[in-house]
Amino acid sequence: MTQLFVNAAEVVTCAGPARARRGAEQGDAAVRPAVGVAVGEDGRVLAVAPDAELRADHPAAAVIDCAQGVLTPGFVDSHTHAIFGRARYEEQEMRAAGVGYLEIAKRGGGIHSSVRDLRTRSEADLASLAAARLRRIAAHGTTTLEVKSGYGLSLESELATLRVIRRLAAEVPLRLVATFLGAHEVPLEYREAPRDRGQYIALVTEEMIPAVAKEGLARFCDVFCEPGVYTVDETRRILTAARGAGMGLKLHADELENGAAAELAAELGATSADHLAAISDLGIAALAASGTVATLLPGTMLFLGRPKQAPARALVNAGVAVALASDFNPGTSPTVNFPLVLTLGVSQLRLSVAEAFVAATVNGAAALGLAGEVGQIAPGFQADLALFDVRDHREIPYWYGDQRCRRTWVGGRPAHGA
Ligand code: NIG
Ligand code: FE
Repeated sequence: MTQLFVNAAEVVTCAGPARARRGAEQGDAAVRPAVGVAVGEDGRVLAVAPDAELRADHPAAAVIDCAQGVLTPGFVDSHTHAIFGRARYEEQEMRAAGVGYLEIAKRGGGIHSSVRDLRTRSEADLASLAAARLRRIAAHGTTTLEVKSGYGLSLESELATLRVIRRLAAEVPLRLVATFLGAHEVPLEYREAPRDRGQYIALVTEEMIPAVAKEGLARFCDVFCEPGVYTVDETRRILTAARGAGMGLKLHADELENGAAAELAAELGATSADHLAAISDLGIAALAASGTVATLLPGTMLFLGRPKQAPARALVNAGVAVALASDFNPGTSPTVNFPLVLTLGVSQLRLSVAEAFVAATVNGAAALGLAGEVGQIAPGFQADLALFDVRDHREIPYWYGDQRCRRTWVGGRPAHGA
């Protein structure tokens, strides 16, 4: 039946065009005081209007009292590595003691350590570990979550990871979007004769991508394009194969050192270029002239203890559409708290609160090719909603680290906190 969400102090609607927002548009979250939301039986928003009007139009509707809280679109977290086994807390201390992220990887830790661990686990084990973590993510207001493979790095383990994502989609209170990240690293067994990295790249392009496409297991393909990981030429080869197999494209681009990966993302027409802490002015110009969303992950730079965040202001001012995401993963960003990412968006990236909300909703949706479906509270959009125990939406990034999300709905159905 129709549902009315009434008695909200504010509704952050983010209503507007169903596409990535750039420049001045990114700075308008279309916050409306003292309105309610009507949701139809099909789980989509019917109207946003004063409560009295909605009640008059829908006298038989079920009523949900928002208790003077703030209603927002559920967050669209467009970059996570949520399928993994054990946590990697030991690396946090190593970095504090001065051993860098790439140095830990060189010693066989980092991604390699998660790969060794994941390969020993069953799909059931991985699914149950991930399900518990995904419920914590949902409890902070996220309703759509991209999830990457990339800790398998063999045909069998990558497919297993993607099957776990498919299976979780039916079990957890979130919309899941799967991304194939077979090129997350070059696995250690392809670094010594008789095997080499060229053979691994051939495995990715000639066996993994066709197998993933055949089973329809991933909407996107991603590559960690970074000096010391995958080169620009290797990345171009892998993503060209993925595009040929019908997948959308994403890149881990210019995360730690500049390698002109943002330029490659623009050249390939990638849906998003992610990280970008080391993007150059040329990279910014290339993204501004493209349709690629810049997805920034400030939690990662914070957790790695790196001094430099992505140049978010320069990106927005150049007219690049900026999204925010958590990068939830066991190595560089083990946070389930999306509002904390908003905090960092404002306090570290210097976005306005409105820019941060648009980055976390509409532009996150655009980074997943879902801008016509989710990310706005507007007629026709999925009723993916989050209710926060605050009076003003600016309190959501303000009470940093707190858990103010009380309930979420996905397609109008109670997801978290019912
Ligand atoms: O986005 N940069 C590569 N991938 C992840 C980290 C993965 C890991 O360390 O396990 C990231 O930061
Ligand atoms: Fe990542």
